[in-house]
Amino acid sequence: MRALAVAALLTLYGASAKAEEALLAKGESVYKQFCSHCHGLDMKNPGTSSYDLRKWPKDAKETFVKSVMEGKGDMPAWGDILLPEELEAIWFYVATRGGKEPPPQASAGEG
Ligand code: HEC
Repeated sequence: MRALAVAALLTLYGASAKAEEALLAKGESVYKQFCSHCHGLDMKNPGTSSYDLRKWPKDAKETFVKSVMEGKGDMPAWGDILLPEELEAIWFYVATRGGKEPPPQASAGEG
């Protein structure tokens, strides 16, 4: 019984780890394409007036999405440019600090 549960968990983990890898890779490439010239490669802020995305609170996805889609201050709106899945991937990239930290809801299991 227990061995079965562990095996099931491992399978789940393997699948989601793969999905996360893909999401991260996509997030990184979309970020490089649209965001890096202002926010810096690897989110290392080049010292301009743009926000340092490595400091963005991981639990603030809604505000992130709103600011990115509608624009903020000197930042243009991205709502007409980014596809929903691209935004999702960028969020994953930012929230994991480029894959260096676990995502906000790492264990998606109920409970
Ligand atoms: C043209 C330069 C430029 C580009 C390109 C750009 N940003 Fe920004 N971004 C800024 C500036 C400047 C600010 C600071 C805005 C302010 O608070 O006045 C900012 C702020 C932000 C913030 C913080 C918003 C807030 O609520 O404080 C987020 C999140 C963000 N950018 C994400 C992104 C993402 C994701 C992309 C790529 C899709 C991107 N930015 C592309 C210039 C840019």
